[in-house]
Amino acid sequence: MAKKNFLKTAVLSGLLFFLALTANAQQYILIGWNDLGMHCANKYFGKVAVLPPYNNIYAQIIKKQSGMPPQIMTTGFTIDYSIPYNTYSVGKTDFWTYAQQLFGLPNPLPPNIGLTGKGLTGVLDPNTGFFRAEGIPVTPFKDTNLTQEKPFQTIHLVAKNNGTTVSTTDCVIPVSNEIGCVSSGCHSSEQSILNGHETVPGFNTNGPVLCASCHGSPALGTTGDTINAKWFSYRIHDKHKSLLPANDINTCYKCHPGPNTRCLRDVMSQNQSNPLICQSCHGTMSTVASSIQAGRKPWVNEPSCGSTSCHGSNYAEETGKLYRNSKGHGGVFCSGCHGSPHAITPSREPNDNLQSINLQGHAGALRDCMVCHSTPPTGPGPHGLLYSGVHNIGSAIPENFRLYQNYPNPFNPSTKIKFDVASNAFVTLKVYNILGKEVATLVSQNLQPGTYEADWNAAEMNSGIYFARIVTEKYTENRKMILVK
Ligand code: HEC
Ligand code: HEC
Ligand code: HEC
Ligand code: HEC
Ligand code: HEC
Repeated sequence: MAKKNFLKTAVLSGLLFFLALTANAQQYILIGWNDLGMHCANKYFGKVAVLPPYNNIYAQIIKKQSGMPPQIMTTGFTIDYSIPYNTYSVGKTDFWTYAQQLFGLPNPLPPNIGLTGKGLTGVLDPNTGFFRAEGIPVTPFKDTNLTQEKPFQTIHLVAKNNGTTVSTTDCVIPVSNEIGCVSSGCHSSEQSILNGHETVPGFNTNGPVLCASCHGSPALGTTGDTINAKWFSYRIHDKHKSLLPANDINTCYKCHPGPNTRCLRDVMSQNQSNPLICQSCHGTMSTVASSIQAGRKPWVNEPSCGSTSCHGSNYAEETGKLYRNSKGHGGVFCSGCHGSPHAITPSREPNDNLQSINLQGHAGALRDCMVCHSTPPTGPGPHGLLYSGVHNIGSAIPENFRLYQNYPNPFNPSTKIKFDVASNAFVTLKVYNILGKEVATLVSQNLQPGTYEADWNAAEMNSGIYFARIVTEKYTENRKMILVK
């Protein structure tokens, strides 16, 4: 038994060692995200159909190259997707029973295949500078539990170059069935909703009814009709604008998912002193509706990070484009560094933060230049940020000063060194070789209380043992680090 355990440990640490080396020497980065922070879908389609199961995943492959800027790759690469533990949709929803009728399709949809021909596994389609899979018909139910919704499941992406895996990532494929017309306690049944349209000519009072077939919805590519039905978003928000309280997130959660899902989970909604709610950015139900009457196109004219009352022009989307369609620094999508709208990292949901944590060791926007760059960049990066060997990764005030073990370790050629600063202090963090000779200064400045991370790129150094040494007035500590080339 003891022997077996020892073997296991030996094999495991060998494996970890190997992983640490390969992870750090990785030449390609894969980033993936969902276009929206949440895709709602009905579960049952026999009466009222608001939205079909339909998710869109985007991804970019970035090549790290020594001495050169990173490069976004498409030609010669493929990206496969799969959703662990969620491999089928037929039976988790009755969509396939009604899809042909609802969407006027020439043929029935094959089982588990969505409106665009995508299944629950497949490949992303190449585009200029990115990949995309549109219309993945995912449901919120894992194969192992058909009753409890899991709205924040992950999708696994595998990038390959001529068939060989070069990088993988996991990001959230958000989906919820919490469209609460009946479950919110407002309508007694979906039939009662249909009954309201008896006077509309041609209306199928028995269902199934796709609301967007008469009421235009850019989400489904419909533009409205000639019988004065008007935009769906206008009708639904206008009709329900007396729902109270007007300025409460739970009013929106009566239809948008929802008291269980709580689709809004981004960094701004988590702000302790001023948590944003739907109305902070979109206005009340009345505003959502009246702005459409005043000319706003639903789904297309939405709030913007770059408006002067919010973050301003240094943080703006591309002119005339939505956040989700905009690219920023180096041609990387805003969502590639920050996450999807309503899920901007650091998010309340741990899965939204996985990618940033895997790539740079902590949640939040990709801000570590060395995630994509192989040589420290000398010019400005995203929003003018400069490369700095040290950055703040947490503002909670630590109880004590502390120097952590570097990560990864052993490493090649760069590693991260985390430390806590408990009170305002002048901090130096230097690296020494085995002979005690100083080889690098990573930090030499006044720092506010918080948790920091310094990068050490040892591309120019020889293999061997090095020491990180932190010195403040109150605290000194060393950590041994191993460079293996
Ligand atoms: C066959 C076309 C058609 C379909 C399908 C349809 N509607 Fe309508 N709807 C209309 C028309 C036309 C009006 C305007 C009626 C009027 O002005 O009297 C309307 C009005 C409305 C209104 C405003 C009613 C009011 O009293 O102010 C709402 C809300 C609404 N529809 C919701 C829905 C929902 C939800 C669905 C899907 C279950 C749906 N509609 C499907 C044609 C349709
Ligand atoms: C009575 C149900 C209901 C409530 C309550 C509700 N919504 Fe909606 N909302 C919908 C539906 C249905 C759609 C999809 C419309 C479509 O497909 O075009 C939608 C779409 C939207 C859109 C995208 C379309 C557009 O107009 O740009 C926004 C933004 C939005 N809602 C904001 C809100 C906010 C903010 C609240 C709370 C103040 C809210 N909604 C409350 C049902 C509701
Ligand atoms: C911090 C500001 C902010 C808050 C808070 C916010 N939204 Fe949004 N919302 C946006 C932005 C920005 C967009 C446009 C996204 C884009 O450009 O890709 C958007 C778009 C939408 C859309 C259109 C589809 C999409 O996701 O792009 C819907 C629906 C929506 N919001 C509903 C809501 C609801 C419901 C809430 C509250 C639960 C909410 N929003 C909270 C900023 C916000
Ligand atoms: C290469 C990664 C990257 C890209 C691409 C990127 N950002 Fe950022 N963004 C950052 C970093 C890093 C910060 C600094 C704050 C942080 O660490 O969260 C930031 C901060 C922000 C902020 C907050 C500013 C503030 O006032 O605190 C906004 C808003 C923002 N970005 C919007 C955008 C928009 C819109 C785009 C696309 C046009 C975009 N970003 C593209 C990395 C990126
Ligand atoms: C998510 C990936 C990513 C991150 C993180 C990132 N960059 Fe870049 N950067 C790129 C890409 C891709 C290019 C190349 C664009 C091109 O082909 O022109 C680039 C190009 C540059 C360039 C111009 C080319 C060069 O190397 O002189 C500078 C300067 C730069 N980045 C600085 C930074 C700085 C500073 C940071 C950190 C604060 C940073 N970048 C973070 C992806 C990234």
